[in-house]
Amino acid sequence: MSAQLSDSRRPLVVGNWKMHGSHAANEQLLEGLKSAGPLPCEVAVCVPFPYLAQAAERLARSAIAWGAQDCSAHEQGAFTGEVSAPMLADFGCRYAIVGHSERRALHGESDQLVADKAKAALAKGITPIVCVGETLAQREAGETESVVKRQLSAVIHTLAHCAGEMVVAYEPVWAIGTGRTATPEQAQAVHALLRAQLAAATPRAAQMKLLYGGSVKPDNAAQLFGQPDIDGGLIGGASLKAADFVAICRAAANH
Ligand code: 13P
Repeated sequence: MSAQLSDSRRPLVVGNWKMHGSHAANEQLLEGLKSAGPLPCEVAVCVPFPYLAQAAERLARSAIAWGAQDCSAHEQGAFTGEVSAPMLADFGCRYAIVGHSERRALHGESDQLVADKAKAALAKGITPIVCVGETLAQREAGETESVVKRQLSAVIHTLAHCAGEMVVAYEPVWAIGTGRTATPEQAQAVHALLRAQLAAATPRAAQMKLLYGGSVKPDNAAQLFGQPDIDGGLIGGASLKAADFVAICRAAANH
């Protein structure tokens, strides 16, 4: 545990359900999480838009927060299919993932659009979980550092004095859904770079939560969360099974 670790770096474990779930399956999953009892970290689930109300209702008065997987950069207007930060804030949304690699790759989201989404979320008191990460080709070309710095830099500049309010998630694209997790050392090396970049921009860098995502499972979570600059995880597949997600949350005691 880092000497600088403060309360605000209490670990955070977030489930990103992606496009999974049904009303019935969610009932079971949320019940499973609620019945786990106290966990050694902050916990949140980011669910598909149609199920936000279900999450809000089921998680009311529980210690588990809920969030969205995206939000529009615009406040309102003719943007068919989009969901704005004011709408999410309207009924108490706490987090919004922005810039997930699946959105960058499949929906062509640019660094600046991701930054604008983060700004729109923060303006409504929603904590953006900003994802950065390199592809396998970029890693093999030795570009990991320049890619993640470029992605984070856009957000830092756009958020300006509020940059310290975001959560950053390092998700190497080659580790997402592949079962090929970054080693704790690989992940820590990038997290240290990101924290140094944040430190040059905000006095809050030492208190900010930097999450790792990419094939986090119950059997590798403790080692990852034990790294000095890894403050929890953004969990995909393993967040869909209550027992696995709870086990990952418990591994945060190792931070
Ligand atoms: P997996 O945990 O399924 O690899 O997904 C990670 C992720 O993309 C979380 O946002």
